Amino acid sequence: NRIAAFQDTLLAWYDQEKRHLPWRQDHDPYHVWISEIMLQQTQVKTVIPYYERFMKRFPTIEALANAAENDLMKMWEGLGYYSRARNLQKAAKQVVFDYEGKWPNTAVGLQKLAGIGPYTAGAIASISFGEVVPAIDGNAFRVFARLLEIDADIAKPQTRHLFEEILQPIVSPTRPGDFNQAIMDLGSSYMSAANPDSAHSPVRAFNQAYLDGVEESYPVKTKK
Ligand code: ADE
Repeated sequence: NRIAAFQDTLLAWYDQEKRHLPWRQDHDPYHVWISEIMLQQTQVKTVIPYYERFMKRFPTIEALANAAENDLMKMWEGLGYYSRARNLQKAAKQVVFDYEGKWPNTAVGLQKLAGIGPYTAGAIASISFGEVVPAIDGNAFRVFARLLEIDADIAKPQTRHLFEEILQPIVSPTRPGDFNQAIMDLGSSYMSAANPDSAHSPVRAFNQAYLDGVEESYPVKTKK
């Protein structure tokens, strides 16, 4: 069937071509979480050295929960959006002190933590805990809008629910974390916003907007 063929093609490509990034060395939720928060407004190549310094200084969630605020801010200097760093420490304290060091292991549970919204929750739940849920950030909205010719306006808040419902049966049931990370890699290469190359994409046969010659029209996004 078509969904299984898409999953197989995407995951085979990911196995061959995935980016080797420091936060992909294991599935530790602390590692996945810190990288996802850093990546929210910052490019991968900028994040890498920040991530490595951060893990040296705060190797565990306990170390982060107990950090002095000025130490934490110093590690964050240059990344901007300092509310991200403040929320990191709030969430670390929640896990360490309210949950006795045990991470919530579902996307619903993870969203109770400071600074963790639906995308980050989906990423951690799928990558670290194997929950079969999508992780939809701006790149995933573009990728799936094109693959499936979804013409809902991604500027509208309710459109997230539509994408989540459409994608739930498409996420790989056996490798949800790899599936979501493969979509991230596709969104930064063959299906990037600035410089897509769908003609050579491993999933071009599944890219409806490309096949119809209307890729440029997706995703649909009105000005706010
Ligand atoms: N962008 C957002 N999350 C990412 C991840 N885990 N790996 C690479 N790029 C990403």
